[in-house]
Amino acid sequence: MSDPIRFYYRGEVHEVNDAAPTRTILQHLREDLHCTGTKEGCGEGDCGACTVVVGSIENGQLELKTVNSCIQFLPTLDGKALFTVEDLQQPNGMLHPVQQALVECHGSQCGFCTPGFAMSLWGMYLKHDGKAPTRAQIDDALSGNLCRCTGYRPIIDAAQRMTELPRVDFDGDALAGQLRGLQRDAGFDYAGAGKRFHAPRTLDELVRLRADYPHALLLAGSTDVGLWVTKQMRELDDIIYLGQVEELKRIAERDGMIEIGAGATLNDAYAAVCRHYPDELSELWQRFASLPIRNAGTLGGNVANGSPIGDSMPWLIALDSQVVLRGPDGERVLALEDFYLGYQQKDLRPGEFVQAVRVPLPYAGLRLRTYKLSKRFDQDISAVCAAFAITLEAGRITRARIAFGGMAATPKRAAAAEAMLAGRAWTEDVLAEAMAALERDYAPLTDMRASSAYRMQAARNLLRRFWLETRPADPLPREAVNAFALGGNV
Ligand SMILES: Cc1cc2nc3c(=O)[nH]c(=O)nc-3n(C[C@H](O)[C@H](O)[C@H](O)COP(=O)(O)OP(=O)(O)OC[C@H]3O[C@@H](n4cnc5c(N)ncnc54)[C@H](O)[C@@H]3O)c2cc1C
Ligand code: FES
Ligand code: FES
Repeated sequence: MSDPIRFYYRGEVHEVNDAAPTRTILQHLREDLHCTGTKEGCGEGDCGACTVVVGSIENGQLELKTVNSCIQFLPTLDGKALFTVEDLQQPNGMLHPVQQALVECHGSQCGFCTPGFAMSLWGMYLKHDGKAPTRAQIDDALSGNLCRCTGYRPIIDAAQRMTELPRVDFDGDALAGQLRGLQRDAGFDYAGAGKRFHAPRTLDELVRLRADYPHALLLAGSTDVGLWVTKQMRELDDIIYLGQVEELKRIAERDGMIEIGAGATLNDAYAAVCRHYPDELSELWQRFASLPIRNAGTLGGNVANGSPIGDSMPWLIALDSQVVLRGPDGERVLALEDFYLGYQQKDLRPGEFVQAVRVPLPYAGLRLRTYKLSKRFDQDISAVCAAFAITLEAGRITRARIAFGGMAATPKRAAAAEAMLAGRAWTEDVLAEAMAALERDYAPLTDMRASSAYRMQAARNLLRRFWLETRPADPLPREAVNAFALGGNV
């Protein structure tokens, strides 16, 4: 038995019965439906040529978000709506203001990237209900779109021009009604090409499925897993998709912690955390991948994947966050740092999955900073990512936690450097000892992103930058030590 994949597309409910569970939305559009407006560039979520807008009902509300169709699997669309560049033209044949503005501002040359830009602009147009976005909002909305020939200035002009043109409304209520009619009471169970795709709707159902199909792969936002298929050509096993479990998307504050369900998107998770840590984490939020990746990817996926160069783990560990694991025997709570046992090895028992991440709320005396070093501002993987959290009382450090990404086989604390700080005055001499101690904490690798020597020097310099920003006497404002802030880009 297999349910058909049902989603709203071009004004009607579209059904698919025979696709492999790992067929991507982009492949379906271009190769099955011959709707070739959506382009394929990189096939790995990096260039934005394949950007589409997906509509879904989340906590009872309609949400419309840009995602990269090249790394999203078709069955994840069940119960949702898909919009592509073919949907933008008006019924009377007129271009949508987004398209008209791109024409008027000369925002396209070879045109290959243009459908992707149009969809990112449309996503922003919908979000702002046709009102003028700020320059920062435009930069953020376009952070996942690459253009190799026009240059960004005319495209940004178009983003500003589009809201000056006669407005085109979107009937969100009608779509929400359509989507409510498509929601299933029970889980979605699909089979294609000899593989199964299960999408449970409740946590209990997920626990049961995880126990029944221990070999199955858990799929959340697909921003890591999608690339295993499109780049590494891996054949995936059966899949259990977490994206329909509402309980996993909850974000709540209790007992001095923000508890973030593992299925909350990176964007929602960082928004919740940045409400409490705006100065400390907003830049990292903005620099984490791109908007379409953050719309799809989850904090739970970042933590569960546990890449040594993942951006969330250093600050989560520095804050002493916890991971809540769920399995057939109930919940297990671990300090996040204890979750990582070695390269690609996690303390995850058979039948278990990550249910939530708990982040401590700010407390008196806490000084937290996180710094991402990468070659580009947006949409780039860190060479080194550092997080420092100290508690200062009358100029003395009463508690020190330091964690780095990119310096070891796992996200890892700097125990030797921390030992140099704890219980001491936060002076330049103490800083120098802690900087030297980092050599005992890490023996970083050389790879295409950075050499070992660069990483070690950068790690030391970042600790110095932290001192400059948090020293008791004359701490420097962020703008004074942040080249991006000086450039006005943040
Ligand atoms: C273009 C691009 C840019 C990126 N930029 C960044 C960046 O700047 N910083 C960064 O850190 N990462 C980046 N990433 C990596 C990726 O976006 C993140 O790791 C993301 O958080 C993964 O989440 P996901 O929900 O997409 O996970 P998925 O791809 O769905 O899953 C990832 C892994 O986690 C497992 N998993 C997922 N959820 C659970 C769970 N609840 N319990 C147990 N196991 C689970 C899956 O089985 C899989 O092994 C980027 C990726 C792309 C494609
Ligand atoms: S084709 Fe490049 S992001 Fe999808
Ligand atoms: S117009 Fe050619 S890549 Fe953008």
